[in-house]
Amino acid sequence: MMNKHLIAPSLLAADFGRLREELEMFNASDADWLHLDVMDGKFVPNITFGMFIIEAINKVVTKPLDVHLMIVEPERFVPEFVAAGADVISVHYEACPHLHRNLQQIRQLGAKAGVALNPHTPVHLLKDVLFDIDLVCLMSVNPGFGGQKFIETTYQKIRELRQMADGMGHGSLMIEIDGGVTTQNAEALLRAGANVLVAGSSVFKASDPAAAISELKKLNPYTQTV
Ligand code: DX5
Ligand code: ZN
Repeated sequence: MMNKHLIAPSLLAADFGRLREELEMFNASDADWLHLDVMDGKFVPNITFGMFIIEAINKVVTKPLDVHLMIVEPERFVPEFVAAGADVISVHYEACPHLHRNLQQIRQLGAKAGVALNPHTPVHLLKDVLFDIDLVCLMSVNPGFGGQKFIETTYQKIRELRQMADGMGHGSLMIEIDGGVTTQNAEALLRAGANVLVAGSSVFKASDPAAAISELKKLNPYTQTV
């Protein structure tokens, strides 16, 4: 049961002037996926990078790319993100009036289909499409920026979602937590039912990022009680 969970460092907090070094650190580390935050300045009040940069990153990175699309009408660009190397693509529930169709598009292109939920969006809204989803990304901050404070109501959302998925027979659903994850709260998040932890600042702003990743990876929530 050890190390069942995945660690996905978020590149948003990296030093982009030293991008290759950061990516090589990631490759050599205990991390599982590289989390890439794509922002369009419209769905969220910030702009980051797109498929051109991801394609370049993919040439250096040796592990799966977990692409978090914080953009309106993501279906316009999903084929290009898959072509750029995305292994997991999460679209936002709040940006997708045709979510069922969008999820099928992602899977048909060969990627894992993810849905991200803003902090105010309840998990029960995913019930009717749950089997079309490989991963739910629960935002534990408001999307748009790294380094924000973790929102405590996330624990309850994790428990509800895990219960709903188990109750429906979708035990393989991955639950990813994105925002404000640290070694302080990671174990409790895993105990609540999460199994993918995104960590930006707590990894890349640490004095030893590879050690910070190992610490998150080493956690074994099942040996302790709350
Ligand atoms: C926020 C992004 C996160 C961000 C997390 O919109 O989705 O992935 O990088 O950063 P930290 O871990 O610093 O909260
Ligand atoms: Zn993210």
